[in-house]
Amino acid sequence: MTGGRFAGRTAVVTGGASGFGRATVQRLARQGALVTIVDVAANGDEVADEISAGDGSVTFHFADVSRPEDIDAAFESAYDRLGRLDIAVNNAGVLGGGWIHEEGATEFLRRQLDVNVIGVWNGCRTALRLMRPSGGGVIINTASPAAQVPTPGAAAYGLCKSAVLHLTHSLAIGYAPDQVRVNAVLPGPALTGIFQLDPARRDALEQAYLPNIPLGRMADVDDIAAAIEYLASDEASFVTGAALNVDGGFRPRLPPRVLQ
Ligand SMILES: NC(=O)c1ccc[n+]([C@@H]2O[C@H](COP(=O)([O-])OP(=O)(O)OC[C@H]3O[C@@H](n4cnc5c(N)ncnc54)[C@H](O)[C@@H]3O)[C@@H](O)[C@H]2O)c1
Repeated sequence: MTGGRFAGRTAVVTGGASGFGRATVQRLARQGALVTIVDVAANGDEVADEISAGDGSVTFHFADVSRPEDIDAAFESAYDRLGRLDIAVNNAGVLGGGWIHEEGATEFLRRQLDVNVIGVWNGCRTALRLMRPSGGGVIINTASPAAQVPTPGAAAYGLCKSAVLHLTHSLAIGYAPDQVRVNAVLPGPALTGIFQLDPARRDALEQAYLPNIPLGRMADVDDIAAAIEYLASDEASFVTGAALNVDGGFRPRLPPRVLQ
């Protein structure tokens, strides 16, 4: 694609091989960005080829976001395509419940911190290093409504996503003078690969979520990708430090405690 709102721009999307990330890659590529998927997924090359075959130019770089050297190499490979990095979407994440009193809770927290917090930190750090000398850029971090409302038995995930919101706000203020905009999206529940569910459990999960979603449906991956596309675009040129809920009004109500 030669035209489009992102023609002549480069983008990285972590977690771009699946779910919200993949839908975002599709949208950015369709609008002319040269996109690099940054992921640990075994099928990353296939996803990049598939999207490129449709409309766009997408490459895959295998990288674990929790490793700063991986992020440096991946983001630099995107930068090298045009000698600039314009858009960084720090979206890779892992999910899980787990009560703090249970065996292994601290190890579980560390794993989530590694991917969901250090991974976003690494992405922001490398993006800022590459964007500042070029006169600016856009960073979008994927948080969650879990950052705003506690979910019983999922404190580790919620505290990670709260940290993502704080990091987003801090960097937005700190790097505005460099013309780097930093925003967060907070997606509502969507039945993506992150839940690792069989079909029966997917139905049960959907039924549990629906009463708490005023618009009456789960999120579609493209709902989130559309919001990320907007935040990445020049239409959002005066938007920084925003936490954009794309969740159908989702406000989790505290369920009765089921585990002791
Ligand atoms: N699905 C939801 O209901 C929901 C709601 C709110 C927020 N989120 C957040 O949205 C983001 C995307 O999740 P999704 O729902 O699209 O899930 P997904 O599992 O479909 O996609 C996540 C991608 O991240 C990749 N990934 C995981 N660990 C990685 C690592 N260490 N390094 C590089 N890549 C890694 C996976 O391989 C996968 O391709 C996550 O940050 C998640 O926390 C999801």
